[in-house]
Amino acid sequence: MSEWLQCVGCGRRFASSEVRYTCECGELLSVERDAMPKREIFDARLSSRRAIDRSGVWRFREAVLDVDENEIVTHPEGATRLYERGGIFFKHEGENPTGSFKDRGMTVAMTQARRLGARAVACASTGNTSASLAAYAAQAGLRAIVFIPAGKVSTGKLAQTLAYGATVLAVRGDFDAAMQLVREASDRLGIYLVNSINPFRIEGQKTIVWELLQDLEWNAPDWIVVPAGNLGNTSAFGKALREAFDAGWTSTMPRLASIQARGANPFYRSYRDGFTQRHRIAAETIASAIRIGDPVSHSKAVAAIQQTNGIVEEVTDEELMLAKREIDEMGIGCEPASATTLAGAKKLRASGVMKDGERIVCVLTGNLLKDTDAILRNVPAERTIEIDATIEAVEKALG
Ligand code: F0G
Repeated sequence: MSEWLQCVGCGRRFASSEVRYTCECGELLSVERDAMPKREIFDARLSSRRAIDRSGVWRFREAVLDVDENEIVTHPEGATRLYERGGIFFKHEGENPTGSFKDRGMTVAMTQARRLGARAVACASTGNTSASLAAYAAQAGLRAIVFIPAGKVSTGKLAQTLAYGATVLAVRGDFDAAMQLVREASDRLGIYLVNSINPFRIEGQKTIVWELLQDLEWNAPDWIVVPAGNLGNTSAFGKALREAFDAGWTSTMPRLASIQARGANPFYRSYRDGFTQRHRIAAETIASAIRIGDPVSHSKAVAAIQQTNGIVEEVTDEELMLAKREIDEMGIGCEPASATTLAGAKKLRASGVMKDGERIVCVLTGNLLKDTDAILRNVPAERTIEIDATIEAVEKALG
């Protein structure tokens, strides 16, 4: 067996062909394998024109999923840009096919769904997972069912999800209620669950880190900064860094900085307690993507922070919206949740945790156009000037 599911708590193993998201003991599962390739094969694929080599996920396929190449469901995805602005790097995952990092996990989960013979796939979502699921399910020919918190998903994300053909269940409750409900519904109705509690999602999302390391010619940065909501990415980044270090792809271990919005900060609270307890809260933030009070990947994310000597920080809605404006005005742009990274980095620099000269990569998780309402509430009103259709009016407006 070259790949298997393993409990992160008790270590019990299960076949990777089993439909299972947690262990008998209740803990999360992770995909493990007995061998890792050399990084040179990933570099060699950069000049290839094949879809699975151009995909920033499947370029790393030996360390993602042991699967026949013709079974892979790929758009392709990944291969996003790394920008350097003002001494900070930005890895823009909003450049994925559906506009968020979720496509990296979804290509793997959907490939696995088809191998397992699933007929329908489901998730709970604040909007990006649902859009990604809908797009990949359309490609794979599977029925897509998404559970969203009613009235709490941005118009663009909801429209995108509907456009790709998903059935939307708008749950009267928050994301955490929708998450509980989809877990129950998947078990009862035999629908394959592709939230990040699904360990195959995590395998895909690891490649955000591997691709940025490759972008930096495998000279690891000092810090990788990531927004934290349901904690799938924090978990995936920790696993990616561990595996890259153990395989000798990098010689240093970057520190992970997971950033939460203050109104949705259960992980930050646990961190402040030295991870002695798990918090569950009623979440509220303008960054609707991370309006999550009971993150499912808590235990994996704790390990990620501990194993990378990482930290968890919180930022206010004002701080993250200010950072968003800065990222937008660089001509790059991102959605509010993604801007927690720059807001967090600024805070950590000011407090001396991040030192001058340290190399920092902020991961921008979602595209600017994902949440236009947040933009229109945030830009100065005087930037739009309504005028009569005369040249005099133009001169007056610009004068
Ligand atoms: N950034 C964006 C843009 C997101 O959409 C999410 C999560 C996160 C950050 C947080 O990542 O959950 O791995 O800690 N969005 C999920 C969704 C919940 O349903 O689209 P995480």
